[in-house]
Amino acid sequence: MSLSALKSLGRDFELSKKKMRSIIRGFHLEMDNGLSGRTSSLKMIPTYVGRPTGREKGKYIAIDLGGTNFRIVSLTLKGRGVSSDHHVMKFALRKRDIASTGKRLFKFLAGSVKTFIKENRISRLGHIDLGFTFSFPVNQTGIASGTLVMWTKGFSASGVEGRDVVALLKRSLEEEGIGNISVTALANDTVGTLVARSYSDRDCDVGIIIGTGTNACYIEAIRKVRKLKAGRRKPGAMIINMEWGNFNKLKLTRYDRQLDKKSDKPGAQMLEKMVSGMYLGETCRLIMKDLISKKVLFGGISPAEFNKEMFFKGEFVSQVLADRTHNLAQIKALLRRSGVKDPSPEDRKIVRRVCELVSIRAARISAAAIVAVVTKTDPSIRRKHTVAIDGSVYEKLPGFSGKIKEAIRELSGRSSGKIRIMLTKNGSGYGAAIIAAVAANKRGSVR
Ligand code: BGC
Repeated sequence: MSLSALKSLGRDFELSKKKMRSIIRGFHLEMDNGLSGRTSSLKMIPTYVGRPTGREKGKYIAIDLGGTNFRIVSLTLKGRGVSSDHHVMKFALRKRDIASTGKRLFKFLAGSVKTFIKENRISRLGHIDLGFTFSFPVNQTGIASGTLVMWTKGFSASGVEGRDVVALLKRSLEEEGIGNISVTALANDTVGTLVARSYSDRDCDVGIIIGTGTNACYIEAIRKVRKLKAGRRKPGAMIINMEWGNFNKLKLTRYDRQLDKKSDKPGAQMLEKMVSGMYLGETCRLIMKDLISKKVLFGGISPAEFNKEMFFKGEFVSQVLADRTHNLAQIKALLRRSGVKDPSPEDRKIVRRVCELVSIRAARISAAAIVAVVTKTDPSIRRKHTVAIDGSVYEKLPGFSGKIKEAIRELSGRSSGKIRIMLTKNGSGYGAAIIAAVAANKRGSVR
């Protein structure tokens, strides 16, 4: 019984090479649709930012909103490389900051910037340029303006969707008495990550986040962005924020459907719901609940915790997959803490298998999506491509990055050697500062 239930689960979550290839085809179609302004699950948002020259200089502040923490950094760009005299501050985001009103959220952001300036003795008198990393789908209208299309990742502050988030930030900075700070750039975290890496790596043309949420951006020829008005379609290249988390041409299991139905935004962010850290644990929980009801797991007895939505967190999946003990003692301890009285050796193995299946599927979806992005601009992979990547899932989920690389090799054979996946930590904030430099037109220029 237990074996057949697990086998069928394996079949549901398995992603063969053939299936990955069909994901790639789906991506190419949706990318074209999005670039041409036709209906598409990929928004393909123009960012009005190109690759940095590497010569950008000056002092900047960058703020970064979109994950579990709100971060502020100040740094000096010295042309090709970031100086070491930067300050970083992290502020934990509480539910009441992200889920009440926009006014409250932006007041919190501006208040934190004020604290940061004070603590790091940054002068409040002179002019300061700030890059704003805002990691949500934004309809960008220029390098420093854009309206929020919709919140993702559990954010829900009212009165922000449909509004210009730079205008909201500027107003709050003025209200805090720090209107000397000008918001010179608005960037998605993927764009920041790409820009940060390409400051010193000319082969970098893709930026990816796989963390609480997931997304990618890449460098596209402006002439291919057909939805831009003719006057804006200049020669050269521009970074496109794909918002790939919303890709909706994937085959869903009934657990994915269950998760989606109960989510904040049913039908939206389907790839994100199968790949990102916010949802991996919940998918595992739904599978485990099903196995409990089939009496395959925990002798059919469901501990109360397992009935709570979102109780099985992404970190738990990491802990399960990190257990290298011969009798899975860490999994046993974790299950005990979660209310399972005496998890049998069989139970522990099943829990590990569930976490493996869900995370390997996530890695293979990500790999197919990466190959799709690279082959969109370079179908036979003739050039070198550095893919700058960041995010807790990529960095911390045991085995995840290895599975991505393995699947890329499976898909692109020897050409896979031309694709370098580079962990680019905290790139999103640094990148926003570099974009602010480009925008402030100190010494840089957009190519
Ligand atoms: C957002 C993207 C963001 C990604 C990673 C998604 O939920 O829609 O804009 O880049 O999360 O943070």
